[in-house]
Amino acid sequence: MRTVAVVLAGGIGQRVGAGRPKQLIEVGGRPILELAVRAFDDHPGIAEVVVVMAAGHLRAAAAIAAPFGKVTAVIEGGDTRTASTVAALRVLADRPDGTRVLFHDAARPFVDAAVIGRVLDALDAHECVAVGMPASDTIVEVAGGFVAAMPPRESLSRFQTPQGFRLGVLRKAYELALADPALRATDDCGIVHRYLPDVPIRVVAGSERNLKVTHPLDVVVAEHLATEPLEQS
Ligand code: CTP
Ligand code: MG
Repeated sequence: MRTVAVVLAGGIGQRVGAGRPKQLIEVGGRPILELAVRAFDDHPGIAEVVVVMAAGHLRAAAAIAAPFGKVTAVIEGGDTRTASTVAALRVLADRPDGTRVLFHDAARPFVDAAVIGRVLDALDAHECVAVGMPASDTIVEVAGGFVAAMPPRESLSRFQTPQGFRLGVLRKAYELALADPALRATDDCGIVHRYLPDVPIRVVAGSERNLKVTHPLDVVVAEHLATEPLEQS
């Protein structure tokens, strides 16, 4: 069964504040979006890539995607990441429930074949797979300016992408989510966790290089990584 990668580039990069979507910024001379698409296009386990782009920038995304043989669609996203995922699910509406689909933040240009491979392998046995890295800072829950809870650091994980799913599970979770007027979520595993709590979410290791370009400082780091790759970690 074909494995599809969805590269989510529907945001505008407000926090980076570059005056254009951050996925169009060049690092090492190539647009961030291109690097993210290339990682999946190059991977032997991926048959097809769908790019979800911010409204008003579809032509730029189509030009970036054009050289990649596995890209089958460049579509417009929505106002939220959730809405952009829904747009991708619509494009995949005719695919069988068993289809494996990976959702990746375009803002993570340094995802590598090893991380993608771990997600694909885990999808053989699990319907929902996340990529996590140990937290190096102590992370606490804060409410009203005071510490409310201090979960042990060893039990905490920072999520990266790609997140992998059997398409049927994600469809079902989104069906429930979209019927919920109180819907809120930052990622697709979050939707599965909230609306299909009985579905186990397997967590595999990501990589420190797989950072998300979120703030202006991350653009500096990304430029460095693009030109002087560090050892894999
Ligand atoms: N994303 C998306 N559609 C949206 C919002 C976000 O596809 N409506 C994508 C982004 O393009 C990004 C990923 O989801 O690749 C992670 O989101 P984030 O880092 O928050 O990117 P932006 O929303 O673009 O940035 P900001 O929140 O600073 O505006
Ligand atoms: Mg955002």
